[in-house]
Amino acid sequence: MRTTVALLGFAAGSYALEKRASASAYSSNSAGTYKLSSITAPVQGAGDPGSSSTWKLSIDDTSSGYKQTIVGFGAAVTDATVESFNTLSDSNLQDLLNDLLTDSGASFSLMRHTIGASDLSGDPVYTYDDNGGSVDTSLSGFALGDRGTAMANMLASMKSLQSDLTVFGSPWSAPGWMKLNGVIEGDTTNNNLNDGYLSGDFGETGYASEFAQYFVKYIQAYQDLGVSIDAITIQNEPLNSQAGYPTMYVYADESAQLIRNYIGPALADANLNTEVWAYDHNTDVTSYPQTVIDDAGEYVDSVAWHCYATDVDWTVLSTFHDSNPDVSQYMTECWTPSSGDWYQAADFTMGPLQNWAAGVTAWTLGTNSSDGPHLSEGGCATCTGLVVVNNDGSYTFETAYYMIAQFSKFIPTGATILNGSGSYTYSDGDGIQSVASLNPDGTRSVVIENKFDNDIYLTLSTESGEEWSGDIPSESVTTWVLPASS
Ligand SMILES: *[C@@H]1O[C@H](CO)[C@@H](O)[C@H](O)[C@H]1NC(C)=O
Ligand SMILES: *[C@@H]1O[C@H](CO)[C@@H](O)[C@H](O)[C@H]1NC(C)=O
Repeated sequence: MRTTVALLGFAAGSYALEKRASASAYSSNSAGTYKLSSITAPVQGAGDPGSSSTWKLSIDDTSSGYKQTIVGFGAAVTDATVESFNTLSDSNLQDLLNDLLTDSGASFSLMRHTIGASDLSGDPVYTYDDNGGSVDTSLSGFALGDRGTAMANMLASMKSLQSDLTVFGSPWSAPGWMKLNGVIEGDTTNNNLNDGYLSGDFGETGYASEFAQYFVKYIQAYQDLGVSIDAITIQNEPLNSQAGYPTMYVYADESAQLIRNYIGPALADANLNTEVWAYDHNTDVTSYPQTVIDDAGEYVDSVAWHCYATDVDWTVLSTFHDSNPDVSQYMTECWTPSSGDWYQAADFTMGPLQNWAAGVTAWTLGTNSSDGPHLSEGGCATCTGLVVVNNDGSYTFETAYYMIAQFSKFIPTGATILNGSGSYTYSDGDGIQSVASLNPDGTRSVVIENKFDNDIYLTLSTESGEEWSGDIPSESVTTWVLPASS
């Protein structure tokens, strides 16, 4: 106490304020007794572990430890999301969007959205230029339609609440008339863009330039409704050709050629600065994004990854970073079934962040209480939103929402991820995983995932020479916010 008084006595104002600024801690746990709840803050020094198990972490909060810059966190805005959100009363919807996008809640600042139908759309499937199935080379039949317009309006509302919001779009399929199979849904043969790629005369025949113009028209139509599209992927899961719902197979080399010769130039000609992110699929085929970066690097400097590889291994992103240090990476899709483990969303956020990802988006932001509306056939019938809209007009934040918010609320856009050590997972799955950031206001956030079924007394040392200690509740994701280092 005397020290504090003495300090205040002669130090200049802002210096004294920084010295006095205290740490805080927030937690969400598996039991749901903590939901972004304020808990006992860590203390400086070794603290008093009592009889608790102890754990040590260290972070490099000096410039030698600086890693990637954060773009944001969020989820996919699907037709299921828009449709279920729009059943809420105006005031409930406003409350919900405030919680999702502002610092009264999760502060999400990265949203993916579906361009036309995905599996999380009600029947029937659609794109923005179906034209009754007839070829429409002039794209004169292009129209967002009711669902596309509602999607754009929802994103515009989100943008008005979060000025840092980054929005990227992904189609599940090109319009049917642009495809060899002639339909939006996948099937076992010819589920490809009709662009001459398979017949060896790429671009000489078919609709490669129409496909490129489709993206231009979509971006302009959204812009007209107040949503700037910051990035696109040209195909969701290009290696996933499945019957029953919209899919389209795109070869790596075909993707690179489409972007380099058609989509990149078309966006540039239309004066659109929308980025094109490569791949948008699982971590087990790294040659795909590498081909796109190598052959269309003039237009692509980001890679999007999904979580569905068997035994997903996020260190793939670090390996990719080592060979492509200037390429940004994102984890753009992982589902959050209500039957999932409490830590499932924390895992798919933590892993990518520890391995150079600049952002993470879950699948999907919202659904109704039956994991829909979804297509009656194909795709996912058990994809639960981070938010579930109930039949009585209320809404519920799922466990996955809180687990992602433990990151998004405290690691803002523009934060720098810090190198660290001490995370470890035992073969039975127990352990501590952690990631830290240096935030634009100088504070430091440390997100700690405790999978033990007991509390852990954690001591964190910083390269800048501090030590902080405190309790991390059992089966929780807990975030420490430490004051700026002096
Ligand atoms: C990050 O920390 C690890 C473990 O302390 C260390 O081996 C590695 O060299 C560090 N990397 C950077 C980029 O500082
Ligand atoms: C919720 O989604 C399910 C699954 O698609 C659908 O059958 C149901 O009609 C939807 N309910 C409402 C109220 O939209």
